[in-house]
Amino acid sequence: MEQQRIERLESSFNLVAPRAQELVDRFYALLFSRYPQVRPLFPDQMGDQKKKLIASLVLVVNNIRTPDKLLDPLTEMGKRHVAYGAIPEHYPLVRDTMLEVLCEIAGDAWYEQLNDDWTAALNLVANVMIEGAKAEAQKA
Ligand code: HEM
Repeated sequence: MEQQRIERLESSFNLVAPRAQELVDRFYALLFSRYPQVRPLFPDQMGDQKKKLIASLVLVVNNIRTPDKLLDPLTEMGKRHVAYGAIPEHYPLVRDTMLEVLCEIAGDAWYEQLNDDWTAALNLVANVMIEGAKAEAQKA
């Protein structure tokens, strides 16, 4: 990934990180209102889930300079998502919801380029997870 893109991802994430709780609250509220079909995949109580999502975003941004380090954890995460009922078609829904919420939380600090940067980062995450999921599905 291009150096300047990495820097924009890091600085925009640092900006929203103090409001991570609000970010994930809003993320799931929007995801479930837009795509009610995915609500039943998740547990009723979302507290733990929200913490884990924040942790996974932190992991991604912290390792974005050395993306090879993300391959194993994201592949394993993708494998686990098969059992959760996630399918490849769900990933763009998650990506677009996350983009919208990042933009909303960043407010005036958001700018057009960040849409491309975050789309690239979230696509990278999704691609690795989906490859992991495929490997898992082939075992069955
Ligand atoms: C950027 C892509 C995604 C990231 C970073 C992400 C992150 C996570 C994390 C960290 C967990 C906690 C459990 C674990 O690590 O295995 C989790 C669980 C879960 N995710 Fe995702 N996820 C992504 C995409 C998706 C998609 C596309 C779906 C499908 C709608 C989905 C549905 C779920 C469900 C249903 C759970 C399990 C809840 C439970 O039963 O406890 N995720 N996700």
